[in-house]
Amino acid sequence: GPELFLPERINSKGFDLGHAPTLAKIEEARAPWRSRQWQAGPLLAGDAQPEAAKDVTSPTDLSAVGTVSQCSPEDIELALALAEPWEAPAAERAAILNKAADLYEENYGELFAILAREAGKTIPDAVAELREAVDFLRYYAARIPDAPPAGIFSCISPWNFPLAIFTGQVSAALAAGNAVLAKPADQTPLIAHRAVQLMHEAGVPRSALQLVPGRGSVVGAAITSDPRVSGVAFTGSTATALRIRKAMADNLQPGSPLIAETGGLNAMIVDSTALPEQTVQSVIESAFQSAGQRCSALRCLYLQDDIADTVLKMLKGAMDCLRLDDPWHLSTDSGPVIDEGARAGILAHIDQARTEGRVMKELMAPQGGTFVAPTMIEVPGISALEEEIFGPVLHVARFKSHQLDQVISDINATGYGLTFGLHTRIDDRVQHVCDRVHAGNIYVNRNQIGAIVGSQPFGGEGLSGTGPKAGGPFYLNRFCAPDRQQVSA
Ligand code: NAD
Ligand code: ALA
Repeated sequence: GPELFLPERINSKGFDLGHAPTLAKIEEARAPWRSRQWQAGPLLAGDAQPEAAKDVTSPTDLSAVGTVSQCSPEDIELALALAEPWEAPAAERAAILNKAADLYEENYGELFAILAREAGKTIPDAVAELREAVDFLRYYAARIPDAPPAGIFSCISPWNFPLAIFTGQVSAALAAGNAVLAKPADQTPLIAHRAVQLMHEAGVPRSALQLVPGRGSVVGAAITSDPRVSGVAFTGSTATALRIRKAMADNLQPGSPLIAETGGLNAMIVDSTALPEQTVQSVIESAFQSAGQRCSALRCLYLQDDIADTVLKMLKGAMDCLRLDDPWHLSTDSGPVIDEGARAGILAHIDQARTEGRVMKELMAPQGGTFVAPTMIEVPGISALEEEIFGPVLHVARFKSHQLDQVISDINATGYGLTFGLHTRIDDRVQHVCDRVHAGNIYVNRNQIGAIVGSQPFGGEGLSGTGPKAGGPFYLNRFCAPDRQQVSA
């Protein structure tokens, strides 16, 4: 069958954050960009006539980071009219995508600065994000399919991985030779604008890659309902994916591919044989890293009764050590959530739990920006969660040994199936649980976030996505003309 692993390890080297000279280099590279103001807008193959610029502010302190001019209706029409599939030979496309990866790495200081200021990314998160973006470029460049492109591909991305997911979708569509219309999330246009500039600088023609910033309900809706579009790659909420599927069904050619990577209600099961220290570290990383704003993040932790008190005591102690602050500082563990709307929604959920006396632990949030303090909430089980709470909120449930299969069936009953974590030292139990849980990515005795391109293809099932997995061997086929598509996960 197809290889799951890279022929040789070509993943981005990244940075060793435990090495003082490396940290000093990062500081030096970021310093010029500390108070820089960026201007973003449409990057089209012709002259754009965008709407008036509006401010982009930092979630950390609401200071100005720059401005964005959104596409006007005329700009969307122009982008669609001028879009041309990328007809350069495969080897040339590969060289240009690899060159773009090099340019991303060379510009790390500026990219880290935008990620911190526009998206609230800590340095470790920004490093991981850059590495993943570079990995996507090189991975897809190494696997250009021998098949015609679909045509025009609309790529619509979320704000939580505004460089990595944006680049992953775009580079896959380009590798397959499509013309791409790339719509970044409303909250994070600046990093997307810089990424497209770097891809153009590397040699991607403007007719093959156009940036179309704007609101989802306007620009997103337009580029998923125009019959000239041949396919859509979408990452974001399940609700938006369903809206796009309907728009495509009503307006696009039958069979036009929709690759949708959506939300999750991710669980972890910890049995009485688990190592408490390892469990606590995994839970802290999975629930609170990136302020819990990962689709892969742990939402519901199931602790077997016999070990629950021990783990909870250690977990509360570990939460006390988390430092919430400006993500620019290296000492910060967790930055803000993306905006006021997100914060209000998460706080409403926490307030409801507080009213019901279910808050087990909460920290203090810094003032000024849109911070939410990491919070632990008791629940009877995952079915008490009606929807994905996209922030630093960990729900905890207890179970008894004989209830294991019921817990698995409750997890599956949510209908989501993105990530799942298991901590146990019983080999047969690993097999038993993994055979039964419906989830795209299953992690055993480790955290459940941070899939690595090439070795851990990422994507879910059910309400969590259509597949095929990003960063895996089947993904690119879905960006090709319909008769060449292979949809296996
Ligand atoms: P969202 O659905 O609100 O927005 C995602 C994108 O869709 C944005 O660019 C938005 O402007 C656009 N959009 C909104 N309405 C649209 C419409 N009617 N037509 C076309 N486009 C439209 O999601 P978000 O809040 O930006 O991101 C968070 C969500 O993304 C969470 O649910 C998270 O789980 C999910 N996510 C999933 C993955 C994955 O790989 N499965 C990865 C990251 C994030
Ligand atoms: N690919 C990202 C992760 O695994 C979403 O955390």
